[in-house]
Amino acid sequence: MRAITITQESEPIQLTEISKPEITGEECLIKLSACALNRRDQWIREGMYPGIQFGTVLGSDGCGIVEEGPSEWKGKEVIINPNVEWGSNPDVQSSKYSVLGMPTDGTLAEYIKVPAHRLHEKPSHLTSEEASALPLAGLTAFRATIKKGAVNAGKRVLVTGAGGGVSQLAIAFAIASGADVYVTSGSEEKISRVKKMGVKGGFNYRDEKWFKAAMELGGLDSIIDSAGGNQLNNYLKIIKPAGRIVMYGSTTGHPEKLDVFRLFWSQAQIMGSTMGSDDEFVEMLEWVTKHQIIPTVDKIFEADQCIQAFDRFKEPDSFGKIVIRF
Ligand SMILES: NC(=O)c1ccc[n+]([C@@H]2O[C@H](COP(=O)([O-])OP(=O)(O)OC[C@H]3O[C@@H](n4cnc5c(N)ncnc54)[C@H](OP(=O)(O)O)[C@@H]3O)[C@@H](O)[C@H]2O)c1
Repeated sequence: MRAITITQESEPIQLTEISKPEITGEECLIKLSACALNRRDQWIREGMYPGIQFGTVLGSDGCGIVEEGPSEWKGKEVIINPNVEWGSNPDVQSSKYSVLGMPTDGTLAEYIKVPAHRLHEKPSHLTSEEASALPLAGLTAFRATIKKGAVNAGKRVLVTGAGGGVSQLAIAFAIASGADVYVTSGSEEKISRVKKMGVKGGFNYRDEKWFKAAMELGGLDSIIDSAGGNQLNNYLKIIKPAGRIVMYGSTTGHPEKLDVFRLFWSQAQIMGSTMGSDDEFVEMLEWVTKHQIIPTVDKIFEADQCIQAFDRFKEPDSFGKIVIRF
């Protein structure tokens, strides 16, 4: 079968021929039709991810039809929970935790085998491509926004980097919760696009003084951030006293300094968030169905265009999730 693996070639992403997986016990064999990329796939391509094992099939997200496995699953169109061994503690993943697609073979292939307990039926309002874009980004956005960010009706929330795949879903969950949602973005056009989703306003982070306009809102209850870097000190200027700054990524790196005085005086809470528990995955799917949330698909590529698909991460006009069709 065809699969996108990580190699030691000068271009580490290669579409290769490998053996089709064989299932045992409670496993299912899924014929994938659409798979979505995540930043971690690109970090792995760039050698910036811990514990890279060459030869692994990349990809944490996919949608397809169950071809072999327990009879109750056969023929169903499914998505896959990308958690591997979250464990029993809802607060934090177990020490055995990993994400599908490194070191376990992932979804960027014609077929994948996973235990049946990782499967969920595709939400019926989504196309295969939209559904493939949901699992990892949806779980991350749901925990960061609704759970850790405590975003709900009447709250004012800022989601940073509006064009990002996870941010798009954080925006959608926050709007569905009834909160007043604001964003940052490096693009005025992206701010206009999310306003059509129901976002109240936006700030261009390329303007060094963007936080001054944000201060006029009167304080944010929560900030949901994946950019990291020096913006953290701006977030401390615009957060309400005792508000929550939830950080699930560090696209722009670490802050060079931290205004510790402002941090303790504001009683702000800086919280880390990664993925989410299996129960939160189920809750996230319930929200998606109840509020008819649709992940934003940026572009769809065929498997033999995988290099262009990965390169799309570097293009400033990307907006939402990049999908590869097998
Ligand atoms: N901890 C976890 O479980 C977890 C899960 C998923 C992702 N992540 C991490 O979260 C980050 C985002 O992931 P993603 O899949 O959403 O990536 P993505 O689709 O590539 O989005 C990245 C976004 O970052 C925004 N950005 C760039 N510079 C920024 C800045 N200075 N301030 C604010 N935003 C900025 C851009 O927003 P605009 O286009 O609007 O300018 C861009 O669209 C990555 O670092 C990823 O590794 C972590």
